[in-house]
Amino acid sequence: MSNKNIIWHEHHVLKQERSKIKNQKPCILWFTGLSGSGKSTIANAVEAKLYELQKHTYLLDGDNIRMGLNKGLGFSDADRVENIRRIGEVAKLFVDSGLIVLSAFISPFQNDRDSVRRVVEEGEFIEVFVDTPLEVCEQRDPKGLYKKARSGDMANFTGISSPYEAPKKAEIEIQTDRMSIEASVEKIIDYLEKNGYLIC
Ligand code: ADX
Repeated sequence: MSNKNIIWHEHHVLKQERSKIKNQKPCILWFTGLSGSGKSTIANAVEAKLYELQKHTYLLDGDNIRMGLNKGLGFSDADRVENIRRIGEVAKLFVDSGLIVLSAFISPFQNDRDSVRRVVEEGEFIEVFVDTPLEVCEQRDPKGLYKKARSGDMANFTGISSPYEAPKKAEIEIQTDRMSIEASVEKIIDYLEKNGYLIC
């Protein structure tokens, strides 16, 4: 609900200034993919590389955010929509602070990912599709959740009893069943370098 007594306050220090002293163009690297696809692993490795390059980052990760900010949200379609909406707003604030944000959430619905893309400026949202086949994720099953979902102990599990809409035109695609973590990191860093996000 909008309130006409709440008025946006302009800041004196602007995003461009905050970014300039960090030698970078802020953005969101939005990792999307099935549970167990490798989103967190790759996002962590990319963040480590960016740190090595002395870039300023912050990683928002699915399970951790659900323990704090989004505690209380479940896995119904409506709760997933709200989960992604809030994360999008937080990511936008971090971009405004001049950071390179990495987010690792299943974010199964294209509509929600597109909504986050729309809350930031052109070029600030980079969709990274961690395209690992369901069979591979299920075989990895790092948290034992696929097993639970198959045996009926867990409802609404993405890929099994809840949909996942694969991105049609993500800026970056990573095939973790065919690429090493190092090669995946290199592909993403390469994209950032070629598109002017990393300023020396
Ligand atoms: S999202 O769909 O709303 O984007 P999010 O990335 O925050 O999901 O959380 C996914 C993580 O929650 C999974 O990696 C898994 O560990 C856990 N999880 C628990 N229940 C479910 C479920 N029903 N479907 C998918 N992931 C689940």
